[in-house]
Amino acid sequence: MIILRTVNDVRQYVSTQRGRGASIGLVPTMGALHEGHLSLVEKAVAGNDVVIVSVFVNPTQFNNPDDLASYPRKEEDDFRLLAGAGASAVFAPSVEEIYPGGPSAQPGHIFELGRAAEVMEGKYRPGHFQGVAQIVSLLFRLVEPDRAYFGEKDFQQIAVIRNMVASEGIKVEIVACPIKRANDGLALSSRNALLSPAQRALAPSIHAALAESVAFSKEHSVRETHAMVVEKINAVDEMEVEYFEIVDARTLAAVEEWEESPWIVGCITVYCGKVRLIDNIAYRLPKD
Ligand code: PAF
Repeated sequence: MIILRTVNDVRQYVSTQRGRGASIGLVPTMGALHEGHLSLVEKAVAGNDVVIVSVFVNPTQFNNPDDLASYPRKEEDDFRLLAGAGASAVFAPSVEEIYPGGPSAQPGHIFELGRAAEVMEGKYRPGHFQGVAQIVSLLFRLVEPDRAYFGEKDFQQIAVIRNMVASEGIKVEIVACPIKRANDGLALSSRNALLSPAQRALAPSIHAALAESVAFSKEHSVRETHAMVVEKINAVDEMEVEYFEIVDARTLAAVEEWEESPWIVGCITVYCGKVRLIDNIAYRLPKD
């Protein structure tokens, strides 16, 4: 596996691979890799001749400086895991390399991300999706991948990236990959490393409540299902729901009746102490 540190390194690598007719898969990450990331890499390896994984904690998508400072960074472990998963190259640039004018120097470009970017994460983390669009579009323009892989834990992020790709006219196939969970149901996340042992033992209650609510939803209204999830999670020590929204999976608009859409997802963010965890679950899935 080749380690690329600069934009020029990537340009040269991509041009060599294109020259030999290779298809390219890109897996954008912020590092502190876990099995969820590795499942994206494995899927990318199966579907492309060459796989580039970016490892970059993007400062412009953090609206809370403490969150940025405490975000886990484990570069050596990441490189070892990526080599084992079959990545061809890792792009791990410095902040200066990506943002020569400084990360707060906005490029003066506002991305058209649609209403999907205004709800949920968009509401609670103002500017977050502009930052995500900034780095992901930069990576797409640099690597020009045939396919890019994202995990469905960040369900809203995938919808927003699809909107960004459409509005920017970027040609890339976005591949959404299923959430990976620990044996106790907790969605794998780099942030799980920040949980204390006691918090880690409580955190599976998020998925437990969501999973229970799927059966509950067959006999209860959207409003009752919503209330059940929030009450159950808030009753657990150290847990506080920031938002839980039951939405149409394509538009991310909140639904009031189960009949409103064939594809309905519940998206949740919960503070477990100071650690912000997100998860989601499908209540209705399209038949095909
Ligand atoms: O999902 C993430 O880890 C990040 O938001 C991404 C897509 C790598 C952009 O920094």
